[in-house]
Amino acid sequence: MKELTRMSQKCGSAKAVQQANAVVQQRTVARRQTKLMAHSNKRVQAAAAPVLNTAESERIFAEAQDLLPGGVNSPVRAFKSVGGQPIVFDKVKGAYAFDADGNKYVDYVGSWGPAIVGHANDEVNDALKAAIEKGSSFGAPCELENTMAKAVIERVPSVEMVRFVSSGTEACLSVLRLMRAYTGNEKIIKFSGCYHGHADSFLVQAGSGVATLGLPDSPGVPASATATTLCATYNDLDEVKAIFEANKGEIAGVILEPVVGNSGFIPPKKEFLEGLREITAKEGALLCFDEVMTGFRIAKGCAQEYFGITPDLTTMGKVIGGGLPVGAYGGKKEIMQTVAPAGPMYQAGTLSGNPLAMTAGIKTLEILARPGAYEHLERITNKLINGIMDAAREAGHEVTGSNISGMFGFYFNANPVNNFEEAATSDAEKFGRWHRGMLEQGVYLAPSMYEAGFTSLAHTDEDIEFTIAAAKEVFKTL
Ligand SMILES: Cc1ncc(COP(=O)(O)O)c(C=O)c1O
Repeated sequence: MKELTRMSQKCGSAKAVQQANAVVQQRTVARRQTKLMAHSNKRVQAAAAPVLNTAESERIFAEAQDLLPGGVNSPVRAFKSVGGQPIVFDKVKGAYAFDADGNKYVDYVGSWGPAIVGHANDEVNDALKAAIEKGSSFGAPCELENTMAKAVIERVPSVEMVRFVSSGTEACLSVLRLMRAYTGNEKIIKFSGCYHGHADSFLVQAGSGVATLGLPDSPGVPASATATTLCATYNDLDEVKAIFEANKGEIAGVILEPVVGNSGFIPPKKEFLEGLREITAKEGALLCFDEVMTGFRIAKGCAQEYFGITPDLTTMGKVIGGGLPVGAYGGKKEIMQTVAPAGPMYQAGTLSGNPLAMTAGIKTLEILARPGAYEHLERITNKLINGIMDAAREAGHEVTGSNISGMFGFYFNANPVNNFEEAATSDAEKFGRWHRGMLEQGVYLAPSMYEAGFTSLAHTDEDIEFTIAAAKEVFKTL
């Protein structure tokens, strides 16, 4: 990808950052505390062993440089913004990731969200093993699609009809077309720092990997593709009102992350969501919650249930794939019937609704519906974020952060963060050292301050306590 090429040109100092990081790494390894070894989970003790050998990770990633752009298949994985070598994974199980050198980490990335019932969950795996015997893709209707659709419709307040696709990007680009097809308008409003996948029209102040790489937007996106994308500040209703005023009768819809996870973790102000609902209804525009990240994570009925605001359309992904590639968009029947073949708006997919993805999704939603699931996520994640922030403050660092259910984040920032612009005032350099320090203590965090963290049903109190103890050690070194 050209953005990566440009990034490596811009970051002529990337090597220097890596070297500096290697020094920090050696220093921090030497400081590993025996205290952490008291953690009763023996497997996690192994992760906290005094020496983090990453020889295999380095070998594999070096080889990948010639094979994959930047050595990865998705930019943030390359650790560009935190510096240092990325860890190459060998396997994952439950709350843990194991790297190619045999190191074990408590994992708070969870494959960027899907692993909410724990990595390689036995029940999901058993269901998948049974399903694969019947074939991995039909390219024809199958009843599993109905079962999955019913599970989504039953849970998500805004969804009366749903179309399954194969990624969050595909869900968002399809919903954009739908908003335009249904209203006959072309302009859309998005918010800076919200990521809706990498379709051309959304690559405007897109947060996530785009922000991580320091790119305001991506080369290769024609100006015409973003000319109809109007960008507002998150949590700023007045700005949205002004945009509507200046573009009377021309706006197809407003799309947002109902809780931002792609500028770090930013909860919405309730009045902001309420105001968006009100103004879109008044102006004849559609409101779309991009719940690719928040869907089934914030609550059983997604963020819209949690906040009690029902959008017209919803995009989903990550959790509903149970670890397999899935996306979905859905909403009011009247709107969804615009989609082919019920209506004229074209959208299709060879592997859409394939039986493996449907099976993993059905089982994952079933596990999440069991009593206590969301209570567990809320309790351990709250304990985690409070423990981390207390440890930071004890060590004299200014931090701000929070969680909702199993989604969390904090910034090295003295002030509250309500939008991307405020997130960007946080100490990115300190975040890089924090990230590397935690890695060396056996904790795998998202390698960018512009990403939220995730817990799962597999994370235990012991994992959280281990992580907080690790954080205490790392904060002392920053
Ligand atoms: C809110 C949101 N929308 C869309 C996407 C794109 O999803 P995918 O990476 O599956 O294409 C993401 C990915 O992180 C996301 O967080």
